[in-house]
Amino acid sequence: MFQKDLLKGKNILVTGGATGIGYAIADAASRLGANIFLMSRNEANLQKAVASLRVNGVNAGYRVANIRDSSQVKQAIDSLYSEAGDLNVLINNAAGNFLNRTENISENGFRAITETVLNGTLNCTTHLGKKWISEGRSGTVLSIVATYAWTGSAFVVPSAVAKAGVLAMTRSLAVEWGPKGIRMNAIAPGPFLTEGMASRLMPTEEMVDAVRNKNPMKRLGELDEIANLAVFLISDGSGFINGEVVTIDGGEWLMGAGQFNSLMNLGDEFWNFIDSMRGKKSQ
Ligand code: COA
Repeated sequence: MFQKDLLKGKNILVTGGATGIGYAIADAASRLGANIFLMSRNEANLQKAVASLRVNGVNAGYRVANIRDSSQVKQAIDSLYSEAGDLNVLINNAAGNFLNRTENISENGFRAITETVLNGTLNCTTHLGKKWISEGRSGTVLSIVATYAWTGSAFVVPSAVAKAGVLAMTRSLAVEWGPKGIRMNAIAPGPFLTEGMASRLMPTEEMVDAVRNKNPMKRLGELDEIANLAVFLISDGSGFINGEVVTIDGGEWLMGAGQFNSLMNLGDEFWNFIDSMRGKKSQ
């Protein structure tokens, strides 16, 4: 789908990039020539991911850091920056989430999610952004949000408020930092069944089936589909896209939004009845 050397020479930092969507993006970018740097809390996962990338001859490295902790973020980014000579792209993928009724979530539970998703993303973006600006370098930031950043969603309230903040950050800095050569965009994924998603948000086969059946495409997303979108958005070919959020959900959120969309579940009998009503309304 892309030219072989599309991302050649780009140094890409992916937070939470050792597993799931983050790893899929890192892997796809590496196959197009990018050097990959990963940051997460779990060193065993990082080692495994970097080893897999290196099998294909990719230049890859990692640092262990919790993005909630700004001093860890600064240290990790500074040392990766020195190792790489520059970082050109930041992919804000690291997140935390769980399903629960909001009245059951403690203050600490809220903080575990909002400090990871919102503060963590701000920590990474502002630290790297300040470096780019002070050195007069350009850069690209791509953040993974969620469609409930604008629709809201029951049962994931800490994540919803934090993702809404990340989207606001994306649109705000797109304007403020655009003149400095820094592009800010976001992807809002629908259902992609990673291990994290399966264990935290879709723990039963019934839930997976329900999500699949609700989707207009009648399926879940494939990881290479979101990786392709990310590659496009961080490539120079999309250089005029700034401040945008691209949804990749098979139409899931629109399905939930349209006033008459639930009619999708009705069959021929209903539509035959509607047809039989034609022209009768004024009689
Ligand atoms: N429901 C309600 N509260 C929960 C919860 C759940 N399912 N899971 C954790 N919490 C609360 C804990 O009870 C605790 O609050 P307390 O001290 O008042 O009891 C708080 O969250 C922190 O929990 P802890 O176990 O210390 O976890 P943590 O701070 O290491 O991180 C997550 C919690 C959710 C952020 C963690 O699982 C994580 O980092 N996940 C990353 C991967 C991920 O979620 N990916 C998203 C895939 S869609």
